Amino acid sequence: MTTRTAPGAAPGAQPEPAGRPRIGAKTLRTDRWWLTPLLTVIGLSAWLLYALIRTAMQKYYFVEEHGYLTPFYSPCMTQSCIPEAAHFGRPLPEFPPLVPYGILALPFLLGFRLTCYYYRKAYYRSFWLSPPACAVPDGHAKYTGETRFPLVFQNIHRYFFYAAAIVSVINTYDAIVAFRGDEGFQMGLGNLILVGNVVLLWAYTLSCHSCRHIAGGRLKHFSKHPVRYWLWTQISKLNTRHMELAWITLGTLALTDAYVALVAADAIPDLRFIN
Ligand code: FES
Repeated sequence: MTTRTAPGAAPGAQPEPAGRPRIGAKTLRTDRWWLTPLLTVIGLSAWLLYALIRTAMQKYYFVEEHGYLTPFYSPCMTQSCIPEAAHFGRPLPEFPPLVPYGILALPFLLGFRLTCYYYRKAYYRSFWLSPPACAVPDGHAKYTGETRFPLVFQNIHRYFFYAAAIVSVINTYDAIVAFRGDEGFQMGLGNLILVGNVVLLWAYTLSCHSCRHIAGGRLKHFSKHPVRYWLWTQISKLNTRHMELAWITLGTLALTDAYVALVAADAIPDLRFIN
């Protein structure tokens, strides 16, 4: 029988049979394994708090002079919306205070991020401690996985992907129409920020694991589907950056919203390049 000495055992201690060693310590890791989950909790909580405050504000979401609409209020379709900000009409009634004007898109965007493979890993580890890091014990006595209620709903991620793609199309439209002013083509720093935001949103959305599967999954012969194979290889390259894009787009969404809010509130002027 193979024997070995348990890690951390006193010198000269009796070797024990091969298998899982009996280790008294919670973990043998001595590095700062807790830092990543801690930063994740701080980062996600700060972003959620900011988004909650901004979506409940019901103001500073549109710069009438330059046509900038923040993605947090898009599509703006209630009677409470500034008419020029309502690119798709205002079929919904006036909203009471604190109800976000972008309510048509926000639940889908939240669902898309909450069920995202990367965010699942991030919040399972940081908020649920399940487990907080590799080689660190789970914070819970048992693990039931994602095969039963409520986590079984994580499996509808692909449908949130379809909805998020539609919202990205709407955000793209918002960014494009902002170039159209009363006197023709116009451009300011806000336009560049809106465009940068949608480019990164598309990069995050298309780098989704579901998107990759839709492009190239279930194919027996890539050689018979050259277009899908090409799409799959391009999406696979983006997919390797999915975690970075998940965080970058949280940052660009908040920055875009903050810029629109500051210009709309006349706190800062927009830097103009054309018109
Ligand atoms: S896996 Fe992250 S958005 Fe789909």
